[in-house]
Amino acid sequence: MAAMAVLVMFFVAAALAAAGGAELVEHTFVVSQVKLNRLCNDTLVTVVNGQFPGPAIEVNEGDSVAVQVVNKSPYGLTIHWHGVKLQLNCWADGAGMITQCPIQPNKNFTYRFDVAGQKGTLWWHAHVGSLRASIHGALIIRPRSGASSYPFPKPDKEIPIVIGEWWEMDLDQLDKNLRNGYHLDMPRAATINGKPGDLYNCSGTVKDSNIVKVEHGKTYLLRIVNAALSSEYYLKIAGHKFTVVAADANYVKPYITDVIAIAPGETVDALLVTDAHPAGRYYMVAKASQSPKPVPQIPLFITRGIVQYSEGPRKEEEKALSDSSTSSIMAPEMPDEHDAATSFYFHGNLTSLQPQPVPANVHEHLFYALDGGFFCRKGESSCNNDTNMMGMVNNVSFQLPTTTPLLQAHYHGNMSSIGTLRELPDRAPRMFNYSETLEPTSKATSVRRLRYNATVEIVFQSPVLADTYANPMHLHGHDFLVLAQGFGQYNAETDVATYNLVDPPVRNTVHVPLFGWAAVRFVTNNPGVWFMHCHFGHHSSSGMAAAFVVENGPTLDSTLPPPPEDFPSCKTYNSRVSYE
Ligand code: C2O
Repeated sequence: MAAMAVLVMFFVAAALAAAGGAELVEHTFVVSQVKLNRLCNDTLVTVVNGQFPGPAIEVNEGDSVAVQVVNKSPYGLTIHWHGVKLQLNCWADGAGMITQCPIQPNKNFTYRFDVAGQKGTLWWHAHVGSLRASIHGALIIRPRSGASSYPFPKPDKEIPIVIGEWWEMDLDQLDKNLRNGYHLDMPRAATINGKPGDLYNCSGTVKDSNIVKVEHGKTYLLRIVNAALSSEYYLKIAGHKFTVVAADANYVKPYITDVIAIAPGETVDALLVTDAHPAGRYYMVAKASQSPKPVPQIPLFITRGIVQYSEGPRKEEEKALSDSSTSSIMAPEMPDEHDAATSFYFHGNLTSLQPQPVPANVHEHLFYALDGGFFCRKGESSCNNDTNMMGMVNNVSFQLPTTTPLLQAHYHGNMSSIGTLRELPDRAPRMFNYSETLEPTSKATSVRRLRYNATVEIVFQSPVLADTYANPMHLHGHDFLVLAQGFGQYNAETDVATYNLVDPPVRNTVHVPLFGWAAVRFVTNNPGVWFMHCHFGHHSSSGMAAAFVVENGPTLDSTLPPPPEDFPSCKTYNSRVSYE
């Protein structure tokens, strides 16, 4: 009888699979500290399953995912599914102290969520402190009915390209420093798929490069993620062009370009046609950009891998390949590290492939000034920018709650128990003059309440004078319609006319340009507490963040269910990493 039941179940499962039924995709993520060798050093790093970057999660749209996180690291941990909408499932969002208490060392927790209504590349990463620098991986969502339903030529192969950073310092210490306004720590190298490439001292060999093997005349889908904390990157491949087909798991109208600009948190899907002559070896280069002086300059971060045609190199060259000869490899000409215009145009050239109507009736108009503010420690006479600088939104530097995650407090109706809570103002206290003088800042757990199903428009403003940065602003649990961006100070009177209300790109991260602004709209259709922050580590850890509290709607379908039964608690939290 039992055997019969098993057999029936087997057939049901097989039938479901054949019909393209939704499946459960399961992973176990063992997080531990391992020694990995890069740049001729063994470095202790905290990673998933011993890998840097971590494993890719691959699903078909509509699948369910269960990831068991086994925490063998000394840190409290959460994993966030960056860009996944998590409808009515804010509990699974994995934002440390926003939605949950960290999973303590030697404890497990299983995240369960569905991936629905999204196709393309997203990613996952740790969401406590700065651990995402080493704990991250791609999250790949394919169409349910297979690769033939891509709205672009069917790729022969798909290749994840994860741009990251190699940090030798302890990431917990890094985060403490950032939370104290100290910004002088730097990664040692940039990486592509965990490899620093042959430009760094000591490595300097092709073996340390990410090698993409290709055949002539094929189409490859590159699934590109910027998992770095510190920099936006320009990506180029010598002798080749890209056709961008998606960004942040939303299709875009095919856009042909020889350079991709990708800020931290963003993802880009791009087709690569291997039609170069000769069929040889071509560098794939990722080069960090940075603000011009007087912003303190960081070392040039540039990493490269190789696109290598199977038709070449010939035998003698193959020998050369195994040592460090790189003379026959074609290198692309890269944009200048201070070139902000290329990023501006790249982002501005993306439009939605299947535009949805833009909600016209805006209920909430928010203007968020993104900036750095100073604070002086007791007894300090001069407050130097790089050691006393806090990120802020409308002059408030966000502080995580220390005892109860915001979502839990909200769910139980006792937000007021959070002593540091403050309502985030809808605009900067005074329309500050964006001068070079840093404003003083105050720290608070700043939240903005939003009723269910409201249309919210946010204009994000980066400072317009020297000594500032661009800001890739990311919102959890929702996508933005990116209506417009511009240089200079936003002017409601004239800039509204530039809004794209026809086919704006849909993104979970909007890259607010250097010296400029960006306008987005979204609908609060997902109750819960959703973090919003700059994806630069220096900005997010030091407070350029806020939380949206989206209230329940009137029906069961618009009400956040209770938390999972085995949800981590903060009570016995005693890890050496802190999140306060
Ligand atoms: Cu990719 Cu709040 O993060």
